[in-house]
Amino acid sequence: MVATRDAVDKLVMGRDLTPYPERLVKSTPNSPHVLIVGAGVTGLVTAWVLLDRGYKVTILSNGFANFGKQRLTSQIAGALWEYPPAVCGSHTDTVSLAHSKRWCMTAYHAWDKIAADPIVGQAAGVRMMEEIRDSGVRGFRHVGTGLVGERDVEKSYQVGDAYEVLSPIIDTDQAMLWLTSLVLGKGASTVTENIADDLLDLEEGLLERFGADAIVNATGLSGSTVAGDKTCYPLRGALIRVINDGQDFPKVEAALTISADAALDGEIIFLVPRNDNILLIGGVAQPHKGTLDMTLDDPAIVRMRQRAEKFLPALKNARLDEDYPLAQGLRPCRGKNVRVEREIRRRPGADKSSRIVHNYGHGGSGWSLSFGCAADVLDLIEDALRGDEPVPMAESGVVVCPSCHVHIRSK
Ligand SMILES: Cc1cc2nc3c(=O)[nH]c(=O)nc-3n(C[C@H](O)[C@H](O)[C@H](O)COP(=O)(O)OP(=O)(O)OC[C@H]3O[C@@H](n4cnc5c(N)ncnc54)[C@H](O)[C@@H]3O)c2cc1C
Ligand SMILES: *[C@@H]1O[C@H](CO)[C@@H](O)[C@H](O)[C@H]1NC(C)=O
Repeated sequence: MVATRDAVDKLVMGRDLTPYPERLVKSTPNSPHVLIVGAGVTGLVTAWVLLDRGYKVTILSNGFANFGKQRLTSQIAGALWEYPPAVCGSHTDTVSLAHSKRWCMTAYHAWDKIAADPIVGQAAGVRMMEEIRDSGVRGFRHVGTGLVGERDVEKSYQVGDAYEVLSPIIDTDQAMLWLTSLVLGKGASTVTENIADDLLDLEEGLLERFGADAIVNATGLSGSTVAGDKTCYPLRGALIRVINDGQDFPKVEAALTISADAALDGEIIFLVPRNDNILLIGGVAQPHKGTLDMTLDDPAIVRMRQRAEKFLPALKNARLDEDYPLAQGLRPCRGKNVRVEREIRRRPGADKSSRIVHNYGHGGSGWSLSFGCAADVLDLIEDALRGDEPVPMAESGVVVCPSCHVHIRSK
């Protein structure tokens, strides 16, 4: 159960945001202008939030959502909403965990509203679906070992406990195109360009060139190029795509996952329906592997498929999606988890603090955190425009509320 404290979202669909091209607050010639670098889910959702608040927005990116061979990481994602999100392994401290919980609840309610509107939900490729995990953390319905009978799970599989929650299922290709056209409809401009240096050195030039007042860094995993943060690293992942039309095996209608903390061998099970026709089989998590050259014969992929078949034997008959059998991508990880923070460094000789706001390092949870982080970015931009000094994220005074959730532990 989610208690009241978490339920108070800073950002509410309908109140602060609208999923239609009309803006909630129109911009005027005097509205501040924000340059967002990056057009993944983080950049686009941030753009949306700013546009509905009346800002002018330009999105500069070296890549946009596409159906080509290398899609954006945001398109590769399983995009299952998780609570609390597994960002890049375990959280380093209670403050970062508290941030993540708050962010993902805000995003939960936003995606829920998007899914609840029949027209918007369908256009966006977002719907609510049941998720069952073996972690037994907490849930809206405690399924327990009854899961085995209910969901065609292998009878001998050692299910200790299970719960079920209603969670958003997002068809990322569709959702990314929808988000792109939504922010364009609200008046964002786009520029295709690569940023090859530390943004801090480029700040003045970019602000001047675009007539912008602040910059958002939403470049995902650009540690090496948009230099400055050496703690960024890739956590490689891959998903097998099989046809889920009910012909080869009983259609899988719910996402079934066993998270890393609950898996016996430490290897996760991640079965997520993508849309009406495709089931994703995951999950691989390989830190510091930065190339996208995995094949279906890769031992990690073979093991991943075997694990899924051991769990749900009917999957042995699954047919691959011939057009796109294996999706792989690099989760943008960071030493100290997600960074939603103003730039603290000041350029030598500068008399004002930087007006860069960072929003990156979402690891395996960019979709789960999306709206939550964007709401904080909005606050940080307002601080920057007022000329306030930046405050490091760790000192931003988050309320840690340990009793917000009822925990149910597995045996
Ligand atoms: C296999 C897999 C499974 C996943 N499953 C889930 C899941 O179930 N749930 C979930 O929430 N998340 C999941 N994720 C994680 C999710 O994909 C990421 O957290 C999310 O996509 C991060 O979004 P982003 O916008 O920050 O980065 P990206 O999508 O990488 O976008 C970055 C943007 O910045 C641009 N850019 C980068 N560098 C530069 C530069 N130098 N100059 C200009 N532009 C630049 C890029 O072109 C791109 O537009 C998964 C990821 C993988 C790989
Ligand atoms: C912008 O984000 C990237 C991560 O994508 C990070 O490595 C880099 O340090 C950030 N830029 C600056 C100027 O901090």
